[in-house]
Amino acid sequence: MMALVEGRPAHHPWDDAAAGWNDHTKIIREWLHEATQMMLDAAHVKPGSRVLDIAAGAGDQTLDIARRVGENGYVLATDISARILELAQHNAQAEGLSQIETRVADAQSLGLGGANFDAAVCRLGLMFCDQPLAALRCARAALKTGGRFSALVFSGPHNNPCLTITLRTAREHAGLTSDSPNPFASGTLMSLAKPGLLAQLLNVAGFSDVHGQAVAAPFRLPTSRHYIDFLRSAASPLIEILSRLPAPAQRDAWDDMEAQLNAFTTSDGWVGPNELLLCSATAPQTLPD
Ligand SMILES: C[S@@+](CC[C@H](N)C(=O)[O-])C[C@H]1O[C@@H](n2cnc3c(N)ncnc32)[C@H](O)[C@@H]1O
Repeated sequence: MMALVEGRPAHHPWDDAAAGWNDHTKIIREWLHEATQMMLDAAHVKPGSRVLDIAAGAGDQTLDIARRVGENGYVLATDISARILELAQHNAQAEGLSQIETRVADAQSLGLGGANFDAAVCRLGLMFCDQPLAALRCARAALKTGGRFSALVFSGPHNNPCLTITLRTAREHAGLTSDSPNPFASGTLMSLAKPGLLAQLLNVAGFSDVHGQAVAAPFRLPTSRHYIDFLRSAASPLIEILSRLPAPAQRDAWDDMEAQLNAFTTSDGWVGPNELLLCSATAPQTLPD
C-alpha cells in the first residue's frame, strides 16, 4: 500500500524511471500499439465511455483512451508514482485532451468504490502489485454493473527471453546469486505469468465472463544497443537491482546484457521476442472497495 510522508506520497522506485519511460514513448508506442488496441477493444472502450486507467505511467495508453472516448468521455489516469503521473498530465495537456484527469493512487487501495466507470484497464502495471487480488477487487468496485475490465501483463520466462536474460545478468552482476530467484515472485515482472493465474484471480475478485489470450509483442529496433538504452533509463526493476553497484560496474552489466541480446540480431535489425497476456472480464455488480 502507498506510504505517505507528511501527507505526500513517499518516493517510489518508479519515480526514478519516470523520465526515462516518458522519453522512450516512441519505442513503447511501437512496441505496444497493437496490444493496446486489443486491450481497449476488450474493455469495450468507445465514444462517451468513462474509463479508469490503472498504473497509467506517463500516459501513452491514456491518450489512446481519451481519443477513443472523445470529448464526451472521461479518463481518470491513476498511478502510484507522482512523478510519472505529472508527465502523463503534461502529455495530456500538450495534446489538448481535457477529458483526462490524474490521481496518485496505489492500485491496491484505489478508493474508487461506487465510481461507476464503464471500463477499467491496466497496461503492464498489475504484475507489480504484491496483492493483485486487492487491485482487481478495487477495479471491480470502481466499475458499474456490466462494466468491463482488461489488462496486459508479461507472460512467462520461456516466451520472454529478453526479460529472463537481462534480469539474470543484472542479478549476477549485483552478486544476488545465492538464492535461485523465483521468476513468478509476487510484485515482479512475470508474477502473473503462470497459466490461468490471472483468470483465477479475476474470478475470485468476483468478475464474470473471464477471458485470457497470449499476445505477441516483439521489440523491433535497429540494434540490441537501442533496447539496452531503453532499459537503462526506463526499466525500474533492472535499475533497482543495479543501483547497489558503482557506475563502472553498472556499465559492465549493461554491456554484458547487450552482448547476450545480440543473439536476436536478424538481417532485418534487432527483433527481441516478447509475449504478453491479455485478460478481460465483466463486473457483474458494483461492490464497495
Ligand atoms: C511498466 S510501467 C507501465 C506504465 C503505462 N501503463 C504504460 O504501459 O506505458 C508500470 C507502471 O506501474 C506503476 N505501478 C507500479 N506499482 C503500482 C501500484 N501498486 N499501483 C499503481 N501503479 C503502480 C508504476 O509507477 C509505473 O508507472
